[in-house]
Amino acid sequence: MPAIVYNPVLDRSEGRALHLGFWRGEGLSLVEAQRALDREVLEAAGLVPGAVVVDVGCGLGSTLWEAAQRVADLELIGINLDEDQLRRAKELPFPQAVRWICADACVLPLPDASCTTMLCVEAAFHFSSRRKFLEEVVRVLRPGGRLVMTDLVPNPALRALKGTPVGREIERRVQAGAGPWPDFWGEEAAEILELEMLQEDDLSAATLPSWQHFLGRKPDADVQLPGDPIADACHQLGALQAVGFLKVILRVWKRR
Ligand SMILES: C[S@@+](CC[C@H](N)C(=O)[O-])C[C@H]1O[C@@H](n2cnc3c(N)ncnc32)[C@H](O)[C@@H]1O
Repeated sequence: MPAIVYNPVLDRSEGRALHLGFWRGEGLSLVEAQRALDREVLEAAGLVPGAVVVDVGCGLGSTLWEAAQRVADLELIGINLDEDQLRRAKELPFPQAVRWICADACVLPLPDASCTTMLCVEAAFHFSSRRKFLEEVVRVLRPGGRLVMTDLVPNPALRALKGTPVGREIERRVQAGAGPWPDFWGEEAAEILELEMLQEDDLSAATLPSWQHFLGRKPDADVQLPGDPIADACHQLGALQAVGFLKVILRVWKRR
């Protein structure tokens, strides 16, 4: 029985996406910003009809749903450790069948060289190891296939706090409110020879406004509700991101 992965955003997101969105332009709602991020990811994926697309850590299925609206004849596979989220993903009205698989990102139940596109949107920090996940990507992607991944990564200054009292306290507060975060201190990019980096964009500024929504309070309120570990974790993560210690990065790799 896989562990249930609690995700704080689950309860505080207004739509189907469980990610920070992409705030480009004025007057967007959270749902619109989240749809904009799904579109950024799919643009980078360069989908064509017939592509076999796997979304690892697929949440409630928003990114795959957006893909199905844009390109016909895709073969879609959504992978998540949390059965409850998959149950909700199955409710989405897809124009075609989707394979929803309950599995761990680091042990993918997919044959070698079986897909053309892999997506991983704001999920890799929850995995036991980014490196193991990327090794699975190398195994499962066909040569020439692409991985598009958005990730929250510590910069060198934040990583320098690993193991210090301040670092341990940051980690404790993030884990207490934002669910398992085993690879918090993970490397920015694993150097795996079979993966060639095609693109790297810093989305930190364009994702920052979302933390206010997940705090569960009005954006202009300056007092935080006491005793709310989710708000505390979001506050912590938002603050680290605001000062540049935590980055939100979109990366595109090609399987050689
Ligand atoms: C922040 S959410 C992002 C969800 C989705 N990609 C989205 O953008 O809406 C992180 C997701 O990763 C999933 N997850 C966490 N650990 C996982 C693992 N080891 N294997 C597969 N999925 C995992 C969680 O259940 C959750 O759905």
